[in-house]
Amino acid sequence: MTTRAPKGTIDVLPPESGRWRMVLRAFDALAERYGYGLALTPLFEATELFARGVGEETEIVSKQMYSFTDKGGRSLTLRPEATASVVRAYLQEGRRGVLKCAYSGPMFRYEQPQAGRRRQFHQVGVEYLGEPSPDADVEVIEVGYRLLEEAGLGDVVVLLNSLGDPADRAAYRVLLGGFLQARAERLSEDSRRRLATNPLRVLDSKVDAPVVADAPSTLDHLGDDAAAHFGRVRAGLERRGIPYEIAPRLVRGLDYYDRTVFEYQARSYQAAQDALGGGGRYDPLAELLGGPPTPGVGLAMGVDRIVTAMPEAMGAERLDVFVVVADPVRRGEGLELVGTLRGAGLAVDLDLGGRSVKAQFKVAGRRGAAVAAVVGAEWDEGWVTVRAMATGEEQTVPIAEVAAWARAH
Ligand code: HAM
Repeated sequence: MTTRAPKGTIDVLPPESGRWRMVLRAFDALAERYGYGLALTPLFEATELFARGVGEETEIVSKQMYSFTDKGGRSLTLRPEATASVVRAYLQEGRRGVLKCAYSGPMFRYEQPQAGRRRQFHQVGVEYLGEPSPDADVEVIEVGYRLLEEAGLGDVVVLLNSLGDPADRAAYRVLLGGFLQARAERLSEDSRRRLATNPLRVLDSKVDAPVVADAPSTLDHLGDDAAAHFGRVRAGLERRGIPYEIAPRLVRGLDYYDRTVFEYQARSYQAAQDALGGGGRYDPLAELLGGPPTPGVGLAMGVDRIVTAMPEAMGAERLDVFVVVADPVRRGEGLELVGTLRGAGLAVDLDLGGRSVKAQFKVAGRRGAAVAAVVGAEWDEGWVTVRAMATGEEQTVPIAEVAAWARAH
């Protein structure tokens, strides 16, 4: 075999994919419970969408885009994130008012691959459009927090900051510009360039972290409205029992944010400087894309990272019943029982390889079956022998009762 998956991408196969399935299902159910409908948008978009939305000076747009020219001469880009797409879709459809939607899918960024950093990675996310209330920020932050809880990550903290309103940011930019200018000779070349174009981006430069460690904080320069908004977000999180820490230099790597920004970190996750997810309020985005003013807040969670951080035992593959065919001549009856149990809503499988009973029991164990149901001679009298795999408890029950017995074990 000579062709391998491209650098920075992975294949996910059973049984490891059980963890992925668990997270994706948990997200799906959570999003539905919190009132987010499903959004599907293209995997590629006009390149200018990200240049305008995410921002020319961000690492994502300036260095990490998978851009190409299609046969019609259009410049297209594999989406590095989905917020710009969701807002574009909302504007394109001429929507007004509140729209709450959830998405799940691959994103593409040309990064230097390392632990927790891939060129294709999977995000699940929600966007809450048309709602300026800080309670929307709290709800969005809660969705991400509950997802991590369901993934068994109990040691998560939300890092929280506010970037203020555009006017606050403009004043802060000047202040930060002065601070950075005084240290310009210690900054990397990239950061020196950004000093002129977008000094906030210098704050999320990893190489320049020591230089900016004592930079002024956006929180000391919030206007009254943004400060009140931030106060209500904090109070809301406290009411919902969501632990947070103020992170005064958290600015996030995308340009569309104002007011609330946040990231999730788990102490148990090794690559601890890498967030499991993040998001924020992006009231300026709709206008950046040429639409009418539309407030919005959202988040995206990195499924690759969550799956890595999850406790080992979670999401293991499991079956309700593994049907063991005691004699190859009973295969037809075995298939019949499999069909009946699947029809009853149970997760059921059998071995089609004609292996010995012992080997079939081994497979049942490996596949995480809760119950093995043996189809043998007693089938002719209407009976099946069932065994609880964990305890070894065994019983012969009428065929019609196998499903109920499996549900009880
Ligand atoms: P982001 O912080 O760029 O935000 O990405 C969100 C999450 O995606 C990260 O916290 C991380 O878990 C995961 N992620 C990002 N890059 C990679 C990578 N190269 N490899 C593995 N995982 C990665 C956004 O994308 C915004 N659209 C979030 C948002 C939604 N803001 C408002 N609404």
